[in-house]
Amino acid sequence: MLSNSPLLQVENVSKTFRVQGKKLHAIENVSFTLEAEKTLGIVGESGSGKSTLGRMVLRLLESDKGKIIFDGMDLSKIKKKHLRELRQQMQIIFQDPKASLNPRMTVYDAIEDAMVIHKIGTKASRRARVLELLERVGLPDEVQYAYPHELSGGQLQRVGIARALSLNPKMIICDEPVSALDVSIQVQVIQLLKDLQKEFNLTYIFISHNLAVVEYLSDEIAVLYLGEVVEQAPAHELFKKPTHPYTQVLLSSILKIPESPEKKQKMTSIQGEIPSPLNPPNGCTFHPRCPFATEICVSVKPEQRKVSEGHFAVCHLVE
Ligand SMILES: Nc1ncnc2c1ncn2[C@@H]1O[C@H](COP(=O)(O)OP(=O)(O)OP(=O)(O)O)[C@@H](O)[C@H]1O
Ligand SMILES: [Mg+2]
Repeated sequence: MLSNSPLLQVENVSKTFRVQGKKLHAIENVSFTLEAEKTLGIVGESGSGKSTLGRMVLRLLESDKGKIIFDGMDLSKIKKKHLRELRQQMQIIFQDPKASLNPRMTVYDAIEDAMVIHKIGTKASRRARVLELLERVGLPDEVQYAYPHELSGGQLQRVGIARALSLNPKMIICDEPVSALDVSIQVQVIQLLKDLQKEFNLTYIFISHNLAVVEYLSDEIAVLYLGEVVEQAPAHELFKKPTHPYTQVLLSSILKIPESPEKKQKMTSIQGEIPSPLNPPNGCTFHPRCPFATEICVSVKPEQRKVSEGHFAVCHLVE
């Protein structure tokens, strides 16, 4: 594959769920491309659609419309038997590793499991691989005999990572992989993911509600609000020039950006709750919470505006 052709192309995908007889727009017209061996960070509050998007990319959920192309394959056209191959190429790491591990399986069996299901290797070669993976994710040998309840959150997440790596995937979707961990452990796990990316040429989608967490790993960041990407840019650019008011609020809650006192006061917290996606506001969906909203924001839905090359924001206020 050409080094700069995207591994993943997501084009105008949408997903609605039927809830209480109404349509809930969980994901609305989302597009992005992701090059091999890079990381796309997806950030947004709870309910913004991060996991739904991740599950669509994995084809654990079908999108209502749009296209997802992974490694040259159109996922919507993939037959069941090829879906199996796809599962080898794409793995997921969850927020709660305990919930994603079978409590009655030892760590050894949990890591070997996918290789058994996919009929990979012999018992002996799988054993060598499990032990190698344990070492690679920083777990001592004897952890292989442990059951999930005997391990700490950080150790469990390392097991989750080893499991995800067992089939040598091209891409891993990390869905809030460190949110449930203590801060010091978060840093270790993020560093581990970064090292593994380099070593195994991995491509990541890294999902988090916390911009600070995605900053270190991401090459590109997409900010989701009520199922829509409201801003997207290379990571350093997004931190240098956050343009959508929502991104600015997310950022100011993790950094103390020096601002004029007046602006700072407006920015320190997001006003109000995230609206229900069952009943999204008219115009710009962020307007009820936006400190800078004007009349047009209340009535007219904004379009993507280019901030600079590769950087866009969906906001009327972008010049
Ligand atoms: N299977 C489903 N049926 C109905 N509604 C759903 C379903 N899955 C998700 N939703 C709704 O879709 C929206 C997006 O949910 P999603 O889980 O993708 O958000 P998220 O950004 O991952 O949130 P969190 O940070 O809490 O994990 C929410 O309003 C959620 O209630
Ligand atoms: Mg989620």
